[in-house]
Amino acid sequence: MHRPDPHSHYDAAQPKARRLRLKLEVDFAAKRIAGEVVLEFGGPVSGPLDLDTKGLEILAVDAPGKGSLPWELGEADPILGSRLRVTAPAGTQEVAIRYRTAPDAMALQWLDPQQTEGKVAPYLFSQCQQIHARTMVPCQDTPIARVSYQAEVTVPEGLTAVMSAGPDGDEATGDGRHVFRFTMPQPIPSYLLALAVGRLESRDLSPRSRVWAEPETVEAAAWEFAGVEEMIVKAEGLFGPYPWDRYDMLVLPPSFPYGGMENPRMTFLTPTLLAGDRSLVDVVAHELAHSWTGNLVTNASMEHFWLNEGFTVWAERKILRTLHGDDAAALGWATGQKALEDSLERFKKEPHLTVLRMHLEGIDPDDAFSSIPYEKGARLVAALEREVGEARFQRFLREYMDAFRFTSITTEQFCAFVGEKLPGALAAVNATAYLGEPGMPATAPQFHSAQLDGLTALAEGWGGGQRPTEAQIAAWTPSELLVYLQKLPRQLTQADCAWLDAHFKLMDRGNHEILVEWLTLAAAADYEPAFPRIREVLIRVGRMKYLRPLYGALGQHARTRALAREIFAAASPGYHGLSRRVVASVLESYPS
Ligand code: BES
Ligand code: ZN
Repeated sequence: MHRPDPHSHYDAAQPKARRLRLKLEVDFAAKRIAGEVVLEFGGPVSGPLDLDTKGLEILAVDAPGKGSLPWELGEADPILGSRLRVTAPAGTQEVAIRYRTAPDAMALQWLDPQQTEGKVAPYLFSQCQQIHARTMVPCQDTPIARVSYQAEVTVPEGLTAVMSAGPDGDEATGDGRHVFRFTMPQPIPSYLLALAVGRLESRDLSPRSRVWAEPETVEAAAWEFAGVEEMIVKAEGLFGPYPWDRYDMLVLPPSFPYGGMENPRMTFLTPTLLAGDRSLVDVVAHELAHSWTGNLVTNASMEHFWLNEGFTVWAERKILRTLHGDDAAALGWATGQKALEDSLERFKKEPHLTVLRMHLEGIDPDDAFSSIPYEKGARLVAALEREVGEARFQRFLREYMDAFRFTSITTEQFCAFVGEKLPGALAAVNATAYLGEPGMPATAPQFHSAQLDGLTALAEGWGGGQRPTEAQIAAWTPSELLVYLQKLPRQLTQADCAWLDAHFKLMDRGNHEILVEWLTLAAAADYEPAFPRIREVLIRVGRMKYLRPLYGALGQHARTRALAREIFAAASPGYHGLSRRVVASVLESYPS
């Protein structure tokens, strides 16, 4: 027995499924999916097959045409779920499992009409990364085992289903339901399985890209993301031809717990990106870049998550630089630096979670999640690029993509490859300090621009009475304002808050990065005029990146703690399970 992924029951000594055939019936009344999955092995296999499940009710297991197979569900582990062991007789080519998902399946959020923009129809979306695919489909839920898939999804008539796959026709069933078919011909890791069902419309953005959203937001989404084709072209310049045929996007309801999720052929996005001024499209650049770094070349397990995210952040800023110039990229790195420092602070008592190559046996990957794999990882990539030069690094990237396309790799495989192609580079940048040691190496690359240094100096002068001029206030882009706010002292007075709000009109910002940075400062200052807006944002938005700092800042004063508890009580039924968990842990850390 050899279990290469600490977060999966997958046994590398057993056969791997090559392809999945899914039939999913979406039942909004019961908040369940009735599912059937056929695992195709691409040839005869036999013996025990260990699959991951969590909260699934297994109804039947058989070899199609050959009758039922013996199976046994192991004890439920709080992180891993239950191992489903199927015993396949010699010659088995396919295993079919009928099952039902649990109403509280972590991968699925079931929304009432009230929680959608249109308020007339329910909505369902999935989020399988890190290890939640097993709450939706019994499978080898590890990125080491890649599968292609086809799916048939039955939904109430009037609703539309989309998946991380190509559409393959749809038809009415004649009994008030509608079937949508999908095919994903390329092999993907299970965490990229994705489904959403709702009242959806789409707008074309280019011959290979369209955006989906509820009818109420689809025009705004099409405007906000109109530049996506230009980004695809830039990304192709970095990594080679786009490998997934189409790049479509879905704008979800506001409870979506992430900013974006790189589901192949259908990136999922938070509606908080609809700032009205295209100022948050770096998230699209990021999810798009995952089409190569993450989806094409994938981390072998969550212990190597930095290979996905570090490379992708680096690529996102590279795209940003070619589109908007050096200053814009420097501001991106500065925002990342702030996120990195916050995460290092959060994990100061858990230094093992600040190394890039993690050891996560017994640790829930959602608990290990932070900006460290993103920002420390991106700095390692940038250091390698600086070491060998932009042109050589560019060629290296192509070689890397060619060598590992459609595979899932470890940090050790990556290092061996760098050692071969860029001899001496790992040692020159002190890669072991990034990969194996906590905190940040002193030699990590720094990112500067005159503009960034000016903003930093101005913000650092706040306590000494320095303030931006009217001209600066009028001229700053959203990213400049964001960096300025991030560099201000964390503990402002109420008079400071009043000054900021009066001069920057912060309460009505459509850019949620700015809005939440401001509300976090206001919460920490116990600034009462901001309370109604804090409540509105926390009730509407479930993006964890915003919930953690905002609820965190509310922990500093007795009155804001009471506010936080009251808001959480009201908001929590509308939150995704993941968001609920994060906020509960923040509230538990409050002084009582
Ligand atoms: N793949 C991640 C989202 C994710 C990470 C989901 C871990 C589940 C577990 C996605 O690509 C991401 O990083 N999103 C960021 C965007 C940002 C870095 C531009 C987000 O959601 O904020
Ligand atoms: Zn990412």
